Amino acid sequence: MLNIENIGKNFGGVKAVDDLTFRVDKGEIVGLIGPNGSGKSTTINLICGVFPVDLGSISVDDRNISKLPTHERVASGISRTFQNIRLFKELSVWQNVWVALQKDSYQSLGWMQEWFGNSKIQKERIKEILVFSGLGDRFDDLAGNLSFGEQRRLELARAIASKPKLVLLDEPAAGMNSDEVADLRQRILDLRELGLTVLLVEHVMELVMNVVDRIVVLNFGKKIAEGNPQDIQKNIEVQKAYLGGA
Ligand SMILES: Nc1ncnc2c1ncn2[C@@H]1O[C@H](COP(=O)(O)OP(=O)(O)OP(=O)(O)O)[C@@H](O)[C@H]1O
Ligand SMILES: [Mg+2]
Repeated sequence: MLNIENIGKNFGGVKAVDDLTFRVDKGEIVGLIGPNGSGKSTTINLICGVFPVDLGSISVDDRNISKLPTHERVASGISRTFQNIRLFKELSVWQNVWVALQKDSYQSLGWMQEWFGNSKIQKERIKEILVFSGLGDRFDDLAGNLSFGEQRRLELARAIASKPKLVLLDEPAAGMNSDEVADLRQRILDLRELGLTVLLVEHVMELVMNVVDRIVVLNFGKKIAEGNPQDIQKNIEVQKAYLGGA
């Protein structure tokens, strides 16, 4: 479903992503791992269209999306979470999902605030998403009052609100304790049950090794290994990359 072919991205001479090729099949959960600065978030940004690829192509279901603007990529079924939590802490939980359902959602919060007062639109659907995400009882609470684990769940709820086919998760387990990681693992498996395809960027190996079907390993923007979790764990090149990195 996702086909990445020979993509490259330079930032002022730094090859953040260097001739990278891999694919993610429909219904798969693929892990994208590598030391700090190895190009994982850049790869997600390239898939979402935060910036264009310098080289290569990205296709979803055989449609080349490399040149599309971000909102058209979202419309074509791609969604993501961010490495750093990005919520509207001063809005309620359901309003955060509502905003995610709108186009140009990072603009003009002022008029949205007014809208919330009398709008019942999409509330049923939002309720459904929040119940699925384990936040059914937090509907009216302020996002800023949620626990850390709940804020991460809300991020996931926002990401699936647009009914994507492909979800890109950038370090969703960062800062979580092991109970929260176990909960997240089950939520990722639930996404697959819904028919979604998942690309998971993660440093928390307890999660990666126990949830993905396949792993792609980056180092200095290049793919250095690909395979199932057991093989990757034993891979000497991968061990060296992690020892040599941060
Ligand atoms: N917008 C940008 N402008 C300039 N350089 C960037 C930009 N984004 C990333 N880089 C550089 O590209 C390289 C890859 O960064 P990237 O954020 O993709 O790494 P990462 O694998 O996600 O690392 P981490 O595990 O720390 O999140 C790094 O050298 C980084 O400094
Ligand atoms: Mg990153």
